[in-house]
Amino acid sequence: MSVSGAIFDTVVRGGTVVTAADTFAADIGIRDGRIVALGKDFAAGHREVDARGLLVLPGGIDSHVHIAQPSGEGIVMADDFESATRSALLGGNTTVMPFCLQEKGVGLRAALKAYHALADGNCYTDVSFHLIVSDPTPTVLGQEMPALAEEGYTSIKVFMTYEGLRLRDDEILATLDAARRAQQVVLVHCENEDAIRYLIGRREADGDIAPYHHATSRPVAAEREATHRALSLAEIVDTPVVIVHVSNREAMEEIGRARLRGQKIAGETCPQYLVLTAEDLKSEDFEGAKYVCSPPPRDKPSQEACWQGLETGVFDLYSSDHCPFRFDDPAGKKSEKGKASFRWIPNGIPGVGTRLPILYSEGVAKGRIDINRFVALTATNHAKLYGLYPKKGTIAIGSDADLALWDPASARTIRNEDLAHGADYTPYEGMAVTGWPVTVLLRGEVAVEHGKLVAAKGKGSYLARGRSALFG
Ligand code: URP
Ligand code: ZN
Ligand code: ZN
Repeated sequence: MSVSGAIFDTVVRGGTVVTAADTFAADIGIRDGRIVALGKDFAAGHREVDARGLLVLPGGIDSHVHIAQPSGEGIVMADDFESATRSALLGGNTTVMPFCLQEKGVGLRAALKAYHALADGNCYTDVSFHLIVSDPTPTVLGQEMPALAEEGYTSIKVFMTYEGLRLRDDEILATLDAARRAQQVVLVHCENEDAIRYLIGRREADGDIAPYHHATSRPVAAEREATHRALSLAEIVDTPVVIVHVSNREAMEEIGRARLRGQKIAGETCPQYLVLTAEDLKSEDFEGAKYVCSPPPRDKPSQEACWQGLETGVFDLYSSDHCPFRFDDPAGKKSEKGKASFRWIPNGIPGVGTRLPILYSEGVAKGRIDINRFVALTATNHAKLYGLYPKKGTIAIGSDADLALWDPASARTIRNEDLAHGADYTPYEGMAVTGWPVTVLLRGEVAVEHGKLVAAKGKGSYLARGRSALFG
């Protein structure tokens, strides 16, 4: 294709383009929402985006977010699709992957219908759903999963914890087996529910009902054991799995051992395991509830281990596990039951808008990871593992022009009021960060300009996906 005389819809000019593999100076020519040229000295486009002094990265893909998910009687998640995807976009993301929860007695298709009704027309980013299987009936396993895989729902999540969600080992095996046949990759939440129930009971019996005991009742051993079990079950039926939200070295070692056995697996960690600890859950005044999530943040050596895992490749994915509840709200962290025992505090913290700046600042700016690894961990690997590559997750001819232009020198302080999500707090309030995504393009259209939202709601589309790269 000759590009010299080409008229582009948009030219992103003068930036430093970064992919998971390379860093190079180039202008980007965009037509019909896609990248059609990478080069120099292009004629003026209909729209010019000045990227001088900026890093041009693929838009972030956050493949682990919870939006408008039913979370127990009287509890309401703080974000709907509008607010969650708005915050995501402002934080440098162009695709998010929320979970569609199958409640017991409901089919996957019915669950999807309800989620699509909430999402369609309301999103600022592109969106694609994972399916949470909580009721693996013969119809779900034998009919719905294979049919939905054909329609582009190519990932599911199963839980080993949470009453009402957790599957028994025989159910996990049957679901993994069905997923392999349907060619769906399985995300697994690894914590031993029986051990946790037992410890919760003991804490309550001792009168230890404060938020901190959420952490003491979900120890590393409960996560390590479940990680080992999940990987063993996956090995038995030869199904690729993603071990999500890993918080500590011992669980990481299980991932390493399974890889050495030749299993097709991926590992994910999240910001809370890099910059928070269980100490954050300690407070006299219930403030610790702001940090209640599962697995809980651990300690400084665990943070260091997770950083090493990002550097060395134990982890392929860095996601937010955005799961927002308002703090000062009886429908959120301060429910009557939650105040009576940590057992009832809704699990989850907001993070979709802060995921990328935290990793850029703590990882790239501080020299722990290079910028190409940052792109792999925040965009490219998500696209590959969840069947969106190369349409998403990279900067290449033919890819969607989903771009985040980062000012690497921008010094900011994280403030909840800037995040545009539905929660009334951020666990990262007051954190100083270096580097911020100042301009974001979604399929070629400028959606955030100089840090301000300029896109209209509803520009985000639903994405059907192909097979995970873990299937080869
Ligand atoms: O506490 C958390 N992580 N809540 C979200 C649900 C999950 O387990 O991913
Ligand atoms: Zn989980
Ligand atoms: Zn989650």
